[in-house]
Amino acid sequence: MKFFIDTANLAQIQEAYDLGILDGVTTNPSLMAKEGIKGQNAILKHYVDICNLVGEGDVSAEVLSVDYQNIIKEGEALADLHSNIVVKVPMIKDGLKAIKYFANKGIRTNCTLIFSAGQALLAAKAGASYVSPFLGRIDDIGWDGMKLIEEIKNIYLNYDFDTEILAASIRNPIHILKCAEIGADVVTSPLASITALLNHPLTDKGLAQFIADAKKME
Ligand code: E4P
Repeated sequence: MKFFIDTANLAQIQEAYDLGILDGVTTNPSLMAKEGIKGQNAILKHYVDICNLVGEGDVSAEVLSVDYQNIIKEGEALADLHSNIVVKVPMIKDGLKAIKYFANKGIRTNCTLIFSAGQALLAAKAGASYVSPFLGRIDDIGWDGMKLIEEIKNIYLNYDFDTEILAASIRNPIHILKCAEIGADVVTSPLASITALLNHPLTDKGLAQFIADAKKME
């Protein structure tokens, strides 16, 4: 399973990359705004800065337009920025058409705001490179986000779609583990949920004992 980090914060991206387990980055307009990025030039520069931090890792950059012509225009400009860029397109009718257009042009896409298996099926048919089911937001309204990941996995296996399942809206380390059990291709997560996987009280206790015993051999 690939690990992406879900942030536009350069320090956190660097920290995750330095752990040696980072395969890519996802951003969205909310995450970009949170970093105080304003204006077209600053937005484009920030995406290039992110790409330069992650080696060959994929970087999802989301279009802000919602009509076909402007999604195409914006997506092509984003794709031209850097070979790591994956154009993130919302699951709407014009977005679906744009994904087909980008697929024909060899431009990789991430279809975002996926909340149903039907949406994921359409995105795969259109040729999306990734689909992003938002499992945390589904859990937030009392539905079962993990069930959606399972449904999409089964549908994609039935037809051997190349589209990768990028589980998004991750809230905790258990989400990451459950996605790995189901076989999601990618999980995009805040840094805290990734680093939480490192922790176990018995590791801490065992290490304290080893350090204490090592002192006896000095
Ligand atoms: C995915 O690509 C989205 O940017 C993100 O995972 C949404 O997460 P949230 O529900 O925590 O905002």
